[in-house]
Amino acid sequence: MITIAVSKGRMQDDAISLLAAAGVRLDSEEVTSRKLAINDESGTYRFIFVKPADVPVYVEHGIADCGIVGRDVLLETEADVLLPLDLGIAKCVLVVAAVDPKVITRSFGMLRVATKYSRVANAHFGARGIPVEIIPLSGSVELAPGLGLADAIVDLVETGRTLKENGLEVVEVITESTGRLVVNRASYQLKAHEIGQLTSSLARAIEKANVA
Ligand code: PRP
Repeated sequence: MITIAVSKGRMQDDAISLLAAAGVRLDSEEVTSRKLAINDESGTYRFIFVKPADVPVYVEHGIADCGIVGRDVLLETEADVLLPLDLGIAKCVLVVAAVDPKVITRSFGMLRVATKYSRVANAHFGARGIPVEIIPLSGSVELAPGLGLADAIVDLVETGRTLKENGLEVVEVITESTGRLVVNRASYQLKAHEIGQLTSSLARAIEKANVA
């Protein structure tokens, strides 16, 4: 059996739809239940639903053979996993945002940046020679500038609604992110046939979705 760790939240529905298009069927009652581990109907795959940042952890340690997780998370965690496939799901961008975009160029001294993506933010501002104080948060990051905790944020934007409704504007796009299939190094060798089958079915489903 192949264990696949799937990011809970924004990625989950897209991942389940793509898997269905690839012929991997999950019981809809189980999917909507609070169960965190379920098998597909053929008994070939076991799915575990975990927080996005934990997907690479399960895969790197070999508890899960594969994972479905955003590129944003992979950039932040720098996990040692194989990345055979861009699933093209859950498209979004990682951005710098602020109430007033000019704050980035006009700030004197340290720019205070609130984010769930400390590593990405440090690398981004470091490359531009902008000194930053990173304020690590684990969610609702868009609140920070308005409440005076930070001058700017680095966060994920999908529809842009959260930024807009919290009075923030995009200052710059850092990079794009989509859902990726990640694979444990040992599983890639030991379960080559099964993982190969999964990868090709997913690749076919992605191709079909792109053509449609
Ligand atoms: C993510 C992200 C933004 C929001 C963007 O948060 O961190 O807050 O979604 O989506 P939008 O552009 O469509 O509005 P998430 O919902 O994962 O929750 P979090 O605040 O707990 O990180």
